[in-house]
Amino acid sequence: MGNALVLHSWVVAMSRSGDTAAGSLGPGLRNPYSVLPDWLYPTFVVVALSAFSLYAAWVVLFFPNGRAGPYLSPFTSPEIHVTVAGFAIPTGIWIFWVPLLFRATCYYYRKALFRGFLGDPRSCAASEGRGGPYHGETRLLVFNNLHRFIFYLTTAQVVVLWYDTIAAFVYQGAPHLGIGNALMLVNVVCLSAYTFGCHAFRHLAGGGLDCFSCHRVRFQLWRGVTVLNVRHDRWAWVSMFTVWGVDLYIRLLILGVIPAAAWV
Ligand code: FES
Repeated sequence: MGNALVLHSWVVAMSRSGDTAAGSLGPGLRNPYSVLPDWLYPTFVVVALSAFSLYAAWVVLFFPNGRAGPYLSPFTSPEIHVTVAGFAIPTGIWIFWVPLLFRATCYYYRKALFRGFLGDPRSCAASEGRGGPYHGETRLLVFNNLHRFIFYLTTAQVVVLWYDTIAAFVYQGAPHLGIGNALMLVNVVCLSAYTFGCHAFRHLAGGGLDCFSCHRVRFQLWRGVTVLNVRHDRWAWVSMFTVWGVDLYIRLLILGVIPAAAWV
C-alpha cells in the first residue's frame, strides 16, 4: 500500500511538473505501469475498433441474413425479416444498435475510446492533452448514462444468443455437431462473461446495500459479478473478437468459401 502511494505520488508529481509534454512521457521518463511503449495500447484500440466497425457495417448493410444451415450469426439474431417494395431490409439493421450502444457506453470502452481516439490522456502516466477545464461526462457525453438501460436490452440479446447456440445442436430433426457449434458456444460464453461483468450490473447486484449479510442472494450475486468484473477489459476484447470470428466463419459458409454441404 505504501509503495503504491509513493508510486502514485511520483506519477502525479511528474505529470504536474511540466516535464511531460501533452500526451507523452517526455524525454528520459518511463511509464511505471508498463514496459510497453505508451503509444501501443491506444494504437491497438484505434486499429482494432476501426477494423471491427468497418467489418460490422459491411455485414449489417450488405447482407440480408446471417444463417448458414444450423448456424446463425450474432449480427443477425434475432432474425427479423422485413421486405419493403421487394427489397429485403438487412436483418442486422434492426438490432445492431443495441451492442453498439452497449459497448460505446461501457465504462471500460469509454476509457479506451478517450485514450485511443482522443489521446485524452494517451496512457496512465501521460499528461492530459486538453488545455481547457475538465467537464466530466456532461453535455454531449451525458448520453453515456444510458448504459444501465441498454444493459437490459443486451441481456435479452444474450438470452436469444444462448437459444441460437443450443438450437444449432439440432439440424433438420437430427443432432448436429460441427465447428460452428463450438464457435457459437465459445462466443456466447465470452459475451455472457462480458455482459454480466458489467459495472452497472455489479451495482444492480450489490449497490446501495449497507448490510451484505442481510441480503445473502444479492451478496452472492455481487461476488459472482465481481469475479467477471475484475477482468472486464479482457472480456470486452475477447468477446468482440469471438463475435467477429463466429460471424466470419458463418459468412464464409454463406459465401461458399467453406463447403456448405458438410455443415462443418
Ligand atoms: Fe462495460 Fe457495462 S461497464 S459493459
